Amino acid sequence: MTLLVTGGAGFIGSNFVMFMLRRYPEYRIVNLDKLTYAGNLENLTEIQGNLRHTFLQGDICDAQLVYEILERYHVDAIVNFAAESHVDRSILEAIEFVRTNVEGTGVLLEAAKRHRLKKFLQVSTDEVYGSLGPEGKFVESTPLHPNSPYASSKASADLLALAYHHTFGLPIMITRCSNNYGPYQFPEKLIPLMILNAMTDKPLPVYGDGGNIRDWIHVDDHCAAIDLVLHEGKDGETYNIGGNTELRNIDVVRRILKHLNKPESLIQFVEDRPGHDRRYAMDAGKMDRELGWTPRKPFDEGIVETVEWYRRNEEWWKRIVSGEYQQYYKMMYGERGMTSKE
Ligand SMILES: NC(=O)c1ccc[n+]([C@@H]2O[C@H](COP(=O)([O-])OP(=O)(O)OC[C@H]3O[C@@H](n4cnc5c(N)ncnc54)[C@H](O)[C@@H]3O)[C@@H](O)[C@H]2O)c1
Repeated sequence: MTLLVTGGAGFIGSNFVMFMLRRYPEYRIVNLDKLTYAGNLENLTEIQGNLRHTFLQGDICDAQLVYEILERYHVDAIVNFAAESHVDRSILEAIEFVRTNVEGTGVLLEAAKRHRLKKFLQVSTDEVYGSLGPEGKFVESTPLHPNSPYASSKASADLLALAYHHTFGLPIMITRCSNNYGPYQFPEKLIPLMILNAMTDKPLPVYGDGGNIRDWIHVDDHCAAIDLVLHEGKDGETYNIGGNTELRNIDVVRRILKHLNKPESLIQFVEDRPGHDRRYAMDAGKMDRELGWTPRKPFDEGIVETVEWYRRNEEWWKRIVSGEYQQYYKMMYGERGMTSKE
């Protein structure tokens, strides 16, 4: 089996590439990644020199390149992680989200159709469903109601993928997962941002009142779920993946501080994200009923491991936070009444 994994130098994609190479000794993986600010070849050092992994730097919007890869490497299946993935950046500048997330997915689908690909798994998100009140959970039939430019670009890609199944019979599956955490997550996202600031005694910027709720899942559980859907999922189906761990942002931040033995006085509430969704919660019952999957890693255990990973991998994150990321950080939090990272 040869898989084309797109976005495999990002957070979840790199974890997935390593997971699949470990799990299937006979699989080959072609990893296509543009290496945007979020893509990092250092995420893949563990598999450097592995002959079953081929890294190609390139854009999923490049139709000719994508088609040539499918033909040249005799690709059987695509798992599409490549995306602009950060909600705050989509609020600052949405067009790249439309280009990569919608147009890029369209290019992959078209190439898949021409190549008669056997499987296409579109990696999506719970954010396509919009925001919940205090009760209830998202199920696969919940109407799409994306609120941010990021979420609407992902919802558009989902609809395009389903249309390719309906119209052309392309073997599409969609997974929609809740918030991931774990090793190699880019430090703009909530958990690594808070870990790094706490470790370095910087203020921890928490949006609004800190009461926004997310359903956290360890990236290894997400990878295992995608693996299962890829092999046993049904064409044309959507699968919700969640961690069964609803937590308010402020409580996530407090746990990190507690583990690092740092004072809560480091918490600084900042102006809220515009249109910030209040609550997400996934009902992943279909994954359990149909594929026998449930998340395994308890948050209490996973968060401690993750904090320890960032402690051990200072070189990895120091190179990131010293570069272009600094400018972004200043723009986001400097303008929200926070002192910048320096
Ligand atoms: N992080 C989460 O909590 C979460 C939850 C559910 C779903 N998802 C989805 O999972 C996928 C991966 O998320 P992530 O957090 O790993 O993101 P990430 O930002 O860490 O990685 C994205 C990767 O895609 C690459 N990329 C961007 N544009 C590209 C293009 N045009 N062509 C080729 N490569 C390109 C980047 O270089 C990067 O390596 C995304 O599709 C995201 O929507 C993420």
